[in-house]
Amino acid sequence: MLREHLTQDHGAASRKTEEIAHQINWFGEKLGLQQGHHLLDVTCGPGLYAVQLAQRGIRVTGTDFGPAALEYARELAKNQKVTDMVTIVETDVRTWNYPAETFDAALLIYGQLAVMSKDEAQTVLNGICQSLKPGSKLVVELLNQDRIDTKDSSWWYTDEKRLWGDAPFMLLGERKWYAAEKLSMERYFTIHLETGQLDEVVLNDQTYSTQEMTQMMLSAGFSQVQIYPDWDTVPLYDSQEWNVYVATK
Ligand SMILES: C[S@@+](CC[C@H](N)C(=O)[O-])C[C@H]1O[C@@H](n2cnc3c(N)ncnc32)[C@H](O)[C@@H]1O
Repeated sequence: MLREHLTQDHGAASRKTEEIAHQINWFGEKLGLQQGHHLLDVTCGPGLYAVQLAQRGIRVTGTDFGPAALEYARELAKNQKVTDMVTIVETDVRTWNYPAETFDAALLIYGQLAVMSKDEAQTVLNGICQSLKPGSKLVVELLNQDRIDTKDSSWWYTDEKRLWGDAPFMLLGERKWYAAEKLSMERYFTIHLETGQLDEVVLNDQTYSTQEMTQMMLSAGFSQVQIYPDWDTVPLYDSQEWNVYVATK
C-alpha cells in the first residue's frame, strides 16, 4: 500500500507530487495559513502534505491508523529536518479523543470521510470542529455525488506487481450502486496464483449531496460552509469529480 501511495505512476492512494504542490498553495490561501499555525491533518497517510506544510513553517499533527504509512511520514519529516514541526499519532480517527480548541486549521482530504458510515462521519466532523479554535477552518474533499458512476459493473485482469499483490495474481472486481443509500460498494477478490490464496477487500463510498454535507457540518458546530465544485479548477487529473468544502468554525 505504501508503495502505491508513493508512486508517481498514478494518484490512486496519494496524489502525484506536482498536484500536491498545487493543493498546498490552495490550502494556504483558503485556510489563511501562517507560520507558526498548528494544522490537524486527519488521515494523513504517509505525510506527503504534513511534511510539505511543515517546510512552510506550519506545525502539523497527522492522524492515521496505517503503521507503514506513518513510519514513512516520520522518516520523511526526519529527512526533511522538520521533526520538531510534525507530530504523528497512530489512531482510528473515528474514535480519537480530539483535543479541545487546539488547531488553527484542519484537513480531511482525498474523500476519506466517504469511507465511513454517516454516523461515523458526523462523529469525526464533531471532533474536528471541537478541536479547532474559533474562526478556524476545515477543508474536506468529497466526490461530487452527481458525477459518481452508478452503473453496476464487474471486471477482471491479471498482473504481477501492483496494489493487489507482489507476485502474479488475478483480480476480480465488481461495483454496485445502492440507490436508496446513495452508496457505491466495490468488492475486490484477489487470487494469488502461486499460492491459491484468496483475499477479499470491500470499499464503500458513501456519497453526499452538497446540502446534506453542509447540514452535517453545521450540526457539528461550524458556522458557515463554502463549496468549491470541480476542485476550484485547481489542475488535478480528476478535478471535475470533486467538491471541496471549506467549513468555518
Ligand atoms: C487515500 S489515503 C490518503 C492519505 C493522505 N491524506 C494523502 O492524500 O496522501 C487514505 C488514508 O486514510 C487512512 N484512514 C482511513 N480510514 C481511517 C480511520 N478510520 N482512521 C485512521 N486512518 C484512516 C488510511 O490509513 C490511509 O492512509
